[in-house]
Amino acid sequence: MNDRIRSDFPILNKGMTYFDNAATSLTPEQVLEAMLDYYHNYKANVHRGIHELSQKASEKYEEAHKKVGKFVNVKPQEVIFVKNSTEAINLIALSMNWEKGDKIVSTSLDHHSNLVPWIRLKNKFGIDLKIVHPNEEGILNPEDYREHAEGAKLIVAPHVSNSIGTITDVKQIGKIAKEHGSLFLVDGAQSVPHMEVDAKDIDCDFMAISAHKMLGPTGVGALIMRNGLTEKIDPAIVGGGSILNVKLDSYTLTKPPENWEAGTPNIAGAIGFGAAVDYLQNIGMKKIENHEKELTKLALDLMENIKGVEIYGTKDIDKRVGVISFNVKGMNPHDVSSMFYEMNKIAVRSGHHCAMPAMENILKCPEGTVRASFYLYNTKEEIEKFEKTLKEISKIIL
Ligand code: ALA
Repeated sequence: MNDRIRSDFPILNKGMTYFDNAATSLTPEQVLEAMLDYYHNYKANVHRGIHELSQKASEKYEEAHKKVGKFVNVKPQEVIFVKNSTEAINLIALSMNWEKGDKIVSTSLDHHSNLVPWIRLKNKFGIDLKIVHPNEEGILNPEDYREHAEGAKLIVAPHVSNSIGTITDVKQIGKIAKEHGSLFLVDGAQSVPHMEVDAKDIDCDFMAISAHKMLGPTGVGALIMRNGLTEKIDPAIVGGGSILNVKLDSYTLTKPPENWEAGTPNIAGAIGFGAAVDYLQNIGMKKIENHEKELTKLALDLMENIKGVEIYGTKDIDKRVGVISFNVKGMNPHDVSSMFYEMNKIAVRSGHHCAMPAMENILKCPEGTVRASFYLYNTKEEIEKFEKTLKEISKIIL
């Protein structure tokens, strides 16, 4: 990746190294310009006015559905704009009809957002919640889902773990879900920004995506919902924009995706999301994935030689993305993270990474870990700086 890419992200000129991309990515000028263009030149509501501004805003908003849909290989009607992945998952939890004893299968590796909504249903409606655990390398075995799949109404999986970066074979879990007639939800928040993802090929019924993790703005994401389900499941949120017809005691919903997008949406955000997709596609997801793989391999190789550093997750570079969770023996992860910034302006995240059960049950570190996560604009020189800093930090305790 070259300097031209870095120049699209002015924040990188401030002398810091940004390795907190799993929390949120940086945003290039092209995305900001697309959003500013909306506010400067055609700010209007969508699907509500017949004046030119509203027509243009609606066109651009619909175009964003097309762009995001094409990015993960689904139809524009299968793209529902929401606030973020958390909202996408909660919207499904709130909209499906649940009865006592219905079975849901989730995992101890999942982000809280793909676990807490299901625990809530268990506590509120008596849902039978089954938990699949990964192996000691943090990899989920699809066959472990089979054990619980019989009669499951919904099976969920993290495509990539946000806390340790391991990749799940979601295609295989999807097959098991289909064999058992279960709906299948994939948390794509951490995979879609970093690799080619084909939701159709995975054959999932739902996928959750956050724009802010893939160069887009905060406050917008997508719930991908398989064609046909959008009409079958009754959306939990209804109102303006999602309606074809209203009487005082009844209503008819309009067609997808609008039937799932009640209220004025995040129009600028959706346009920015579309621009982020354009940006990523112009570079090419395969190229981005390979670049991140190179950085990750270099980081893992360098870190392995540092005394007192424990790295979590698999060492197999083909089964992980550029998210490295680690600890320095005898040091609190928050202290290590502070030192990284104080010593060399390197931004990493520390703590439980919204995955407390994974920290406690899989990694056995209740205080959490330090997490460095990379993206297309990061460089080998930054990895080397990171390694030097980590070496210095680890010496403090030795
Ligand atoms: N889900 C985000 C993370 O992993 C916030 O840091």
